[in-house]
Amino acid sequence: MIELRPLTAADAEAHCAGEDKHTVRWLTGGYGDVKGTIEFFNWLAGNAAAGAGKRGFGIWKSEGGAGAVPTVPARLCGYIDYTPDLDDGLDPDDVALAYAVHPWARGQGIAPEAVRLICDVLRTDKTGTRAAIRVEPENSASIRVAQKAGFRYVRDFPSNRDTHPDGTPTTFSLYLLDL
Ligand SMILES: CC(C)(COP(=O)(O)OP(=O)(O)OC[C@H]1O[C@@H](n2cnc3c(N)ncnc32)[C@H](O)[C@@H]1OP(=O)(O)O)[C@@H](O)C(=O)NCCC(=O)NCCS
Repeated sequence: MIELRPLTAADAEAHCAGEDKHTVRWLTGGYGDVKGTIEFFNWLAGNAAAGAGKRGFGIWKSEGGAGAVPTVPARLCGYIDYTPDLDDGLDPDDVALAYAVHPWARGQGIAPEAVRLICDVLRTDKTGTRAAIRVEPENSASIRVAQKAGFRYVRDFPSNRDTHPDGTPTTFSLYLLDL
């Protein structure tokens, strides 16, 4: 069972420990440190308070199924955010999602479930009309997440913002889900 909660300074160390070369390659572009991560979490909290910009959540996993009483504390196992105002390849009412799961927790369907939960948040808050996953075509694990969460493939497009190390634009595959 997983749940999404806001991140605080107390989570920064576990968040950083959950990064690996795949997180860096496909999402962050570099390893974070605790100080910078705390600043990032504080920025997210400010966005949440203002009701604007990127919103980020930790993904916590507890043992046992629905209704079971957890015997050990829930453990931070990933990160997910949404950005309502990203225009790179998206229409104005599209809300971009991004996520990572800590290496020890991968392959258990956590990211698709976190995507479903964050789409519930978007529906409840009436944020946007479509959720969007922009994924590099070589990132097969994340493409599976989009497919398993019910998103449909729309098109590939060159980013107007992200580039490869050689300066060429990053290609993204766009997957959308009507909210
Ligand atoms: C993409 C990612 C979030 C998937 O999270 P997850 O919770 O493992 O998702 P799932 O359990 O649904 O697995 C998705 C796919 O990952 C692959 N996978 C399975 N076990 C795995 C493991 N132990 N380690 C890595 N990948 C694994 C499989 O291809 C799986 O697809 P399948 O279910 O059809 O076999 C995770 O691999 C990750 O954090 N990657 C680095 C960051 C990233 O790519 N973010 C997305 C940017 S668009």
